[in-house]
Amino acid sequence: MADKEVQLHELLFTLSWEDPELDRRAFAPMAGERIATVASGGCNALTFLLDDPAYVFAFDYNPTQVWTTELKRLAVRELDDAGVYELLGVRESTRRDALMAKLEPFLDPEAKAWWASQPWLIENGLHGGGRYERFVGLFRKLLRLIQGRKTIDRLFEPRTRDERVAFYDEVWNGFAFSLLFKAFFNKAVLSRRGLSPEYFTFDDGSTSFAESFARRTRHALTEIDVRDNPFVAQYVLGRYLDEEHLPEWLRPESLAILRERVDRLEVRQGDVRTVFDDDEDGAYRGVCLSNVFELMSEAQTAEVLPRVARVVPRGGRVTLRNLMVPRGVDDSTAHLLHHEVELSRELQQQDRSFVYRACHVYTRTEAAHE
Ligand SMILES: C[S@@+](CC[C@H](N)C(=O)[O-])C[C@H]1O[C@@H](n2cnc3c(N)ncnc32)[C@H](O)[C@@H]1O
Repeated sequence: MADKEVQLHELLFTLSWEDPELDRRAFAPMAGERIATVASGGCNALTFLLDDPAYVFAFDYNPTQVWTTELKRLAVRELDDAGVYELLGVRESTRRDALMAKLEPFLDPEAKAWWASQPWLIENGLHGGGRYERFVGLFRKLLRLIQGRKTIDRLFEPRTRDERVAFYDEVWNGFAFSLLFKAFFNKAVLSRRGLSPEYFTFDDGSTSFAESFARRTRHALTEIDVRDNPFVAQYVLGRYLDEEHLPEWLRPESLAILRERVDRLEVRQGDVRTVFDDDEDGAYRGVCLSNVFELMSEAQTAEVLPRVARVVPRGGRVTLRNLMVPRGVDDSTAHLLHHEVELSRELQQQDRSFVYRACHVYTRTEAAHE
């Protein structure tokens, strides 16, 4: 299949739907290091700052993702905790316009015009406004009908692992739930409503997505504490469980640290195919690339990965995820990036975001840069 130039200008994600703990473990220790990451909803780039890197570079070819990440960076810098929570929709608010007005002087003109053209994004609280999140919102409405409010509340009650298994198998995973799940999380519906067709250009034709997603969902709702999983809360409740269970970067103690460090975060538009061209060899200890290679052919993936490897020093790490299409380092690049099979597997088991069928960690080898 011919490579397709993908340009997305619709905001897909106001949240990062990937568990940053996986990348943090892969990149540790980050103190004093330089990290590059796909920006997406910005949460993970901000989370990485908690590990005290010298510099985080967040890039995305979709300018609306860049503007979203930059807005969050500015919110942390310019607003107090209450302001951040209100702007993002973590807390109710009647003053989002006023909060946005505080950030406007720092926005570039194009971003400012774009935010002004979609006032509802801010009026409703930013989180939840991306296309993917609105799709998940639809799922949630039906989920509420099927499970009922009480069962949904019960999902978040404190439980042991065995109690979670019993709850999932006996209460949660009924016939209607599995039907709803299949109806929403299949490729056709995801590509039409939730993501965008470009994400499926290189679909490998496998049909098992709903089934393997169902398996990962069971794992996430049983093996991992549901109360401490902000991704489950966002999928099921459309918000965080409560302010005691916020993702790490949004906790008050983290915001205090981030306020001191947000100027180490640079957010810029860029395509992974070219974004590192001006960087020096070994510029980044860690590079987090989400599942960007699923939007490229195998041939182009093989062409781009050595360019990524060039900017990673020996012992540095690259993380990749796979949602639908297996994409990773192939034989042509394996001499530059060594697949950490065990670590990848271990991290996958701990993945709180659970939609990804694989998370791959690679270590830059001893081979000379090419
Ligand atoms: C691949 S998507 C996956 C989204 C994911 N589920 C999340 O939680 O963010 C992550 C981001 O990568 C961006 N992206 C995709 N291909 C890219 C490329 N070639 N260069 C730069 N950014 C890219 C998208 O615009 C999106 O914001």
